Amino acid sequence: MMDAVIDEIDGRMIRIGDQWLADFASCNYLGFDLDREIIDAVPAYLDAWGTHPSWSRLLGSPVLYEQIEARLTALLGAEDSLVLPTITHIHMSVIPLLAASGTIFLDQRAHKTVYDGCQVARSRGAAVRRFRFEDPEHLDELLSAESDPTRLVCMDGVNSMTGNGPDLVAFAEVARRHGALLYVDDAHGFGVLGERSPSELCPYGTRGNSIVQHAGETYDGMVLVGGFSKAYSSLLAFIACPAEVKQLLKVAAPPYLYSGPSPVASLATVLVGLDVNERRGDALRATLHALTARLLSALVRLDVETPNRSGLPIVEIPLRDHRRIDAVGRMLFERGLYVTLAAYPLVPKDEVGFRVQLTAINTVAEVDSLIVAIEELAAAGELKQREL
Ligand SMILES: Cc1ncc(COP(=O)(O)O)c(C=O)c1O
Repeated sequence: MMDAVIDEIDGRMIRIGDQWLADFASCNYLGFDLDREIIDAVPAYLDAWGTHPSWSRLLGSPVLYEQIEARLTALLGAEDSLVLPTITHIHMSVIPLLAASGTIFLDQRAHKTVYDGCQVARSRGAAVRRFRFEDPEHLDELLSAESDPTRLVCMDGVNSMTGNGPDLVAFAEVARRHGALLYVDDAHGFGVLGERSPSELCPYGTRGNSIVQHAGETYDGMVLVGGFSKAYSSLLAFIACPAEVKQLLKVAAPPYLYSGPSPVASLATVLVGLDVNERRGDALRATLHALTARLLSALVRLDVETPNRSGLPIVEIPLRDHRRIDAVGRMLFERGLYVTLAAYPLVPKDEVGFRVQLTAINTVAEVDSLIVAIEELAAAGELKQREL
């Protein structure tokens, strides 16, 4: 279940050799990767722009970039935004710039790419302190004890392992009170979570405009980073920031100055994806929510533990005995289920297990086949029981 060569796909079914499996390892949450309207729109962009712009963004950007940034800024309700190929590029270049030689307060369970960005910052003179996961009081304590006036707090939005978002309102309050800039990576929330509305079709909210809007927060003292490579199925990422930070990044962030750009097909899928999101996004999110709720309610019925308390489509299922990971992985593969295995030492021993992600185009039958396998694993005593 690692380093696989996928020979063929059919919807969310994938073929590896002669085995067909239901894919629960995709982060294409809205199903835009297989959306006919988006696929059909791409060739016209290729005809107009060729396959690849090739200039670094400093040298020149097709007008598509301006269109994306304008629409994205409006969707997020931010002051401005800048897009670059990946979130990894953004973390590695922007965190060191914002931290300078000040102090970074890092979420202990932030994504590896956030850690790596902080490592680069440290190599350039920043200090890094870690605060406990989901613990704004610990952050408060560390900030209170800090005399360095330049403070950057780096954390995940929706966490890629637990599937839960932080209490953003509490973290933002602590950061603002201490004059710290809050830097949030919401790779998994963007496109799924959005602003609340009385007419929302599901608790994810509407418009998929990320955890900041979902929490009813503002961008005051906050920088949001997200990507199109998950919910929008495209190779592009963004930072939502004040206009003056954008100007700084345009002269000082190496990926803007030196890296190659995203392919035209990616820019096209983002632009058309933004259209589709406006018209059909909320319906797709409602489907995604219903599929996830189907799985989560089965876990409750079967008394199977998961850290997921949010209802978001990332569901980690820990094993009772971490040494059983190979056997459980093999069993799932044989049952035609493709999941992400979280093995030791990638995760602590008590969190070893498998993670599934749902997308709006997984079928009910695929989810039910997963539930049957989980039922079997639970009956065999392989899974942790729910903590009440
Ligand atoms: C929370 C988080 N941040 C960043 C990334 C990396 O994103 P990108 O592929 O755009 O560099 C991922 C990808 O898995 C992620 O889960």
